[in-house]
Amino acid sequence: MMRGRFISFEGGEGMGKSTQARLLAKHLEEHGINAVLTREPGGTPGAEAIRELLLHPPGEGWEAEAEALLFAAARSDHVARLIEPAVQKGSWVICDRYLDSSRAYQGEAGKLGDAAVRQLHAIGSHGLLPDATIVLRASSDQVAQRLRERDGDETDAIGGRDDSYHLAVNAAFEAFAAEEPGRFHIVDGEGTVGEVHQRVLQAILPILPEQVG
Ligand code: TYD
Repeated sequence: MMRGRFISFEGGEGMGKSTQARLLAKHLEEHGINAVLTREPGGTPGAEAIRELLLHPPGEGWEAEAEALLFAAARSDHVARLIEPAVQKGSWVICDRYLDSSRAYQGEAGKLGDAAVRQLHAIGSHGLLPDATIVLRASSDQVAQRLRERDGDETDAIGGRDDSYHLAVNAAFEAFAAEEPGRFHIVDGEGTVGEVHQRVLQAILPILPEQVG
């Protein structure tokens, strides 16, 4: 059985990742490819339970180290039980956030460092990387606007962090993409949902099977 592919969507808060991940999975299915849409933190019952602990922490919340370990633990379960078996069966896994979110949020904005986050990933998930990673980007004005508009009461423990944290996250994604241009594809997230979807398809055209491209 031919191995499938693994594609992650990354970016800061409110960039439309979930919508675009869903549209890509739907597009693949419509072209006869078995697509599995999933998300992080989460995707399996165990990882979804950890998600709840991360986004709505009991007590005082997590220190940076514990937070990174919980994300790595959730990812370990997700990779072992869902992502790797699906890709082995020939499916395409489309994941809303993955390792690069830990690198950007915990590693850079949370100041734990990239080496530590990668080490946890090596232990937890054998270092599995996506075949392609789409980073959705919006202009800094638009990001600032979205940050301003965010409702403080409805956001979660990580989404609710201050602007400087989120600006560091966005800068980190840009830096990762520049360092590893083979895997990363920066896609302009402005415009209509349909326009952005077309840009996503263009970005991954080289790895799409003939019937999809
Ligand atoms: P979610 O509601 O899925 O956010 P979004 O809609 O912005 O994708 O919540 C996930 C939150 O967890 C988000 O703030 C990013 C954060 N996160 C990390 O800090 N590290 C990680 O490794 C992952 C996967 C997510």
